[in-house]
Amino acid sequence: MATKEAILQVLSGAGPCFFSSDPCFRSSDLTFSSKLHIKRVKKRASWCMKMFKCSNVLQNGIGNHWFKGLGDRDRSVNATINRLQLLRCKGPQAERVSGVTEGGNGTWFVDGANTLNLNGVASGERTDCFGAWDAQQLTPEKEGFASKGALNQEKESLATNGVVGTGRDASPKVSVDPIEEEAWELLRNSMVYYCGSPIGTIAANDPTSSSVLNYDQVFIRDFIPSGIAFLLKGEYDIVRNFLLHTLQLQSWEKTMDCHSPGQGLMPASFKVRTVRLDGDDDFATEEVLDPDFGEAAIGRVAPVDSGLWWIILLRAYGKCSGDLSLQERIDVQTGIKMILRLCLADGFDMFPTLLVTDGSCMIDRRMGIHGHPLEIQALFYSALLCAREMLAPEDGSADLIRALNNRLVALSFHIREYYWIDLRKLNEIYRYKTEEYSYDAVNKFNIYPDQVSPWVVEWMPNHGGYLIGNLQPAPMDFRFFSLGNIWSIVSGLATRDQSNAILDFVEAKWSDLIADMPLKICYPALEGQEWQIITGSDPKNTPWSYHNAGSWPTLLWQLTAACIKMNRPEIAARAVEIAEKRISRDKWPEYYDTKKARFIGKQAHLFQTWSIAGYLVAKLLLADPSAAQMLVTDEDPELVSAFSCMISTNPRRKRGQKNSKKTFMV
Ligand code: GLC
Repeated sequence: MATKEAILQVLSGAGPCFFSSDPCFRSSDLTFSSKLHIKRVKKRASWCMKMFKCSNVLQNGIGNHWFKGLGDRDRSVNATINRLQLLRCKGPQAERVSGVTEGGNGTWFVDGANTLNLNGVASGERTDCFGAWDAQQLTPEKEGFASKGALNQEKESLATNGVVGTGRDASPKVSVDPIEEEAWELLRNSMVYYCGSPIGTIAANDPTSSSVLNYDQVFIRDFIPSGIAFLLKGEYDIVRNFLLHTLQLQSWEKTMDCHSPGQGLMPASFKVRTVRLDGDDDFATEEVLDPDFGEAAIGRVAPVDSGLWWIILLRAYGKCSGDLSLQERIDVQTGIKMILRLCLADGFDMFPTLLVTDGSCMIDRRMGIHGHPLEIQALFYSALLCAREMLAPEDGSADLIRALNNRLVALSFHIREYYWIDLRKLNEIYRYKTEEYSYDAVNKFNIYPDQVSPWVVEWMPNHGGYLIGNLQPAPMDFRFFSLGNIWSIVSGLATRDQSNAILDFVEAKWSDLIADMPLKICYPALEGQEWQIITGSDPKNTPWSYHNAGSWPTLLWQLTAACIKMNRPEIAARAVEIAEKRISRDKWPEYYDTKKARFIGKQAHLFQTWSIAGYLVAKLLLADPSAAQMLVTDEDPELVSAFSCMISTNPRRKRGQKNSKKTFMV
């Protein structure tokens, strides 16, 4: 890797221009008649993945040109239709259609399309590969699956034997813990099928819930622990299918009020819908994949974490299954590059951290995390490292890899140096001078010491420390965010010393963070006026509930991976033991409320899949700690030396060295 070279570029200020030479990103727009394509679609309708292919072409074809000259009403109709240009697969037999609008919109789209704008490069490459793969992998007859999308699945009783449809539980029948056994059964019951093959798990399978909202969808982030559990069990197909299908969704045209986000965006979730086939007999149906990129989600926020998690899962799949052919495929390589392109694009920002809006990750509602939240930075760093490992070395990607290396070093430096707090650092901030104008200012971000609020002073133990939630010019968000801290350990964004200090901190603050149910999503809660202003008086995020310092059992798996990496699995084992006391009895809730996590969350869904999968992954990793390798990334020596090279070569930093040395940990 050209890491050192990359650093010199950072230091010299030479900005890379990394996509100009990459053929994957040239957007040559071709315009041609849709009629021809519709015909092809129809002809191939009986073979699900070819429909996939054709639908994908159609998707890419709906460009912004569509909106030219349309009135407001038509525009909104089109926006809906855009969303409903779905991956299709003809169902094996007639099933009840519940979505009333899909068929109609689809027809409208077909009849009303005049011109299509095809981004030939991306769709051409990807669909061909996918078609070839499909022929071998996704033939319903071959697998003998009953076609079963989420819509049908949710009606299945929980008592259904989880093995339904998979027919391949190859695990030896050794005596299994009854809670684990139940968890496996529930996990299998949450599986979603598309064209007869498993492609994901629904968010919650709660038969008692009257308001399903979008919990009957496959969420990208929620599937990660499910995927890891299946990988650990040696069931690779569902993960492979998930990765490939979500990859297809990545190139969807997505718009909200005529605005489109970047091309590489992955959806927050998708749903398998069964719709009637137009023009065919009354009973013919097809299955379609309907993604949500945020254009339907509550709050309309784009999920920045989806693509990052997708890269992390892709690497885990390769590591665990040994099948590297997936990550080597051209369409998959293109998918990785599209995500990187979106994340590494130059903007106005002075910071190497990713600038995102509120609600762009697991906390997908307004919680005052906009800016540079730690969770996104940890996932970003992790995804960059994973991508670097998987990107095929080729002429076209040299600039991209250089940009990636630059960012890795700058990002890790920034987080380690400026996000870290412990008692000593807090005291330092408390004594900061403000309004310093110079290159070697100690208080670079002009933090006002009064921000060091009494709760953090009291809360900080003598030993241990953590990475703060967010850093902007002036404000520091001192809240402890669990996922960001834990994933900084797993990914190596935090140094080894910092990682150990974070685990010391978790131990020291056990009764706050683990309490009666692991793990607090953040600490402390926003209360009073702060809650009113920051959340907009969100009734779901009241103090000590849901995202506002509720407790989320799913976080157990990430905690376990971090503890194993630091050779301290006993911490995770203790937390799992606490969870085990109630989680099954409480019916696997999505989250818990109150300071000590004593209540099942006010609006928590029961049988939440990632609570189930998170528990399973934690158990499986504790039973075989070496398996955590597929999740963990270590800092490579080249990065470390580039890092120190950065410190010693940066003239500005040298001037401020006296102060910075005090806080820098490698
Ligand atoms: C909630 C969570 C989000 C999760 C979704 C589905 O919206 O905030 O992180 O992905 O539910 O479980």
